[in-house]
Amino acid sequence: MPLRQEYHEWYKDAVFYEVSVRSFHDGSGNGIGDFKGLTDKLPYIADLGVTAIWLLPFYPSPLRDDGYDIADYFAIHPDYGTMADFEQFLIRAHELGLKVVADLVVNHTSSENRWFQEARRDPHSPYHDYYVWSDDPSRFSEARIIFCDTETSNWTYDPMAGKHYWHRFYGHQPDLNYDNPAVQEEMLRVVDFWLGKGLDGFRVDAVPYLFERDGTNCENLPETHEFCRKLRAHVDLYHPGAVLLAEANQWPHDVVKYFGDGDEFHMCFNFPLMPRLYMAIRREEAKPIVDIISQLPRIPPSCQWATFLRNHDELSLEMVSHEERDYMYREYAKDPRMKINLGIRRRLFPLMDNNRKAIELLHSLLLTLPGTPVLYYGDEIGMGDNIYLGDRNGVRTPMQWSGDRNAGFSTADPSRVFSPVVIDPVYHFNGVNVESAQRSHSSFLNWLRIIIKVRQRHPAFSRGEVRFLPHESIPVVAYTCTHGEQVMLVINNLSRFTQYVSLDLSAFRGCTPVDCFGGCRFPVIGDTNYLITTGPHSFYWFELQRPG
Ligand code: BGC
Repeated sequence: MPLRQEYHEWYKDAVFYEVSVRSFHDGSGNGIGDFKGLTDKLPYIADLGVTAIWLLPFYPSPLRDDGYDIADYFAIHPDYGTMADFEQFLIRAHELGLKVVADLVVNHTSSENRWFQEARRDPHSPYHDYYVWSDDPSRFSEARIIFCDTETSNWTYDPMAGKHYWHRFYGHQPDLNYDNPAVQEEMLRVVDFWLGKGLDGFRVDAVPYLFERDGTNCENLPETHEFCRKLRAHVDLYHPGAVLLAEANQWPHDVVKYFGDGDEFHMCFNFPLMPRLYMAIRREEAKPIVDIISQLPRIPPSCQWATFLRNHDELSLEMVSHEERDYMYREYAKDPRMKINLGIRRRLFPLMDNNRKAIELLHSLLLTLPGTPVLYYGDEIGMGDNIYLGDRNGVRTPMQWSGDRNAGFSTADPSRVFSPVVIDPVYHFNGVNVESAQRSHSSFLNWLRIIIKVRQRHPAFSRGEVRFLPHESIPVVAYTCTHGEQVMLVINNLSRFTQYVSLDLSAFRGCTPVDCFGGCRFPVIGDTNYLITTGPHSFYWFELQRPG
C-alpha cells in the first residue's frame, strides 16, 4: 500500500483547490479534460501556493449530474483516462507536495449503477435492499425537495420493480439504503479502494440524508451520525492521516454535530458563513459575519472549518432566512436565469461585478477567518460564467489557459469541446486567461499567490483562535487570531468609502503592529484606543510584536 505522507492535522494548514478533471485541461485532444491534462498542469496548481486538491467525481457515470451520479465506484470514467493515468497523477501531485482528496458520493448512486439495475430487476437480489423502496409515495413527506426546480417528489415510480424508490436529488439518483449493513460495508470497501491507492481523503457528499425515518425531515438523524462515526473509525484505523470533509449544508447547530466529539469529520464546510460574506460586503456591515461566527459553537480541537466563497454548485441560499434570500436574489441575481433551486449560479467575479478591491477583501476574510480556505478553479484568474448553459454548467466551463483556440484548454475542433468556453466580452478568454494573468505583475492571480504565501507564514491564521474586537464602526470587521505566542490583528473595511476604527487594544499595550505585507511598523500600542483609518474595501493584516 502506498505510504501516505502525513504530519499532524495537515488539513488545518492546508489551502485547498477544487478542480473538475473534465474542465481543467484536455491532454488527449478529444475535447474533454482528463487526468493527463490535469497532471500536466499540476505545477501551475502548486505554484499558486495551494497545498491540497479536491477532485470532483471522476468515476464512470452517465453524467446527468456531472458525475455525482456514479455508475461504478471502482473505476475511472473513460473520458478522463485510465486507472494508470489516475495513479500517475497522484504520484506527481504527491511529488509536488500536494495532497489529493476526492469526492465520495455516499448518499446515492446513478440509476445506471449495476446495483440499481439488479435491484429493480429482481426483488430477491441482494441489491434490492441496497435502495429504499415503497408502495406509498407519501411516506417521509416531511423531507424537503432539494432540487426544487426540477423535482416534484422524493419518490419515483419504477415500472420494472413496480414500486417507488427514494431519492433526495434527481430522479435518476436513487438513495442508498443505509439501514442495510451491506450498503455500509460496500461504502467502506469504496473508501479502502481509493485510500489504498494513496488518496489523502474525501470530501463526503450530501452527508445529512443517509437515513430516513417516519415523522422526521430525514436529515441529520442519529443513525446518520452513527454511520459517520463508523466511517471515521474505519479511516483512522486503516488509513491514518486521511481526512474526511463533510458537505453538510445545514444550520450552525446541525453542521457542528458532524464534527461529533472529534470522532466524525475532521472538517465541515462552513455553509452558514459563505452567503453572509456576500451579504456583509453588499450591506457594508460587519454584523452578518460577526453574528454567524459568534453563533457557531466551539469545535473539537482536532477539527477545522473549511471556508469557501464559491464552488461548482450554485451559491447556496438554503441556510438563510426568507428575507435574507430575497435580499441576495435582489442584489446578486438580477436576471432570473442566474437563479437555480435555492441559490445563484454565478462565479465569483461576475457576482462582485469584477470589483477587484471587493474581491480582494473577500479573500482577506476567507484567508483569516477560522478555517481552511477552499478555492474554486478559475476564480484565481477571474473567470466569468455562462448563465445560458443548463443546470450549474455555467460555472463549470473549460479553464482558460491562453488566448489560443478553446482558450488553450483543448486542441480539439471547437465544436467537439464538451462545453463552450466563455466568450462574454467582459470575461472573454482572449483576455481572461492564465497566460495573461501570469504576465501581468498586478494580476489577481499574482496578488493571490502572494497573499496565500503570507497566510502560510503565520500559523495563527490557520490554527489560531479568532476573537472579534468590539468597536463602533459598522462596516469594519476587526479581530485577532492567536496561536501560542503569535497574535495577528486583522482589520477589514466592508465599505466602498474610507472608514476609521477605534480599537481597545489595551491587552496588547507595548506591542507594535507590523504590516504582514510590506513590513511597515505602526505606532506602538499605548494606553488610549488605537485609531486606524482604512481606504475603501481595504484591509490590514498585522502581526503584533511584543516589545523587545
Ligand atoms: C453536489 C452537487 C450534486 C448533489 C447531488 C451535492 O452536494 O455538490 O453538485 O448535484 O450533491 O449529488
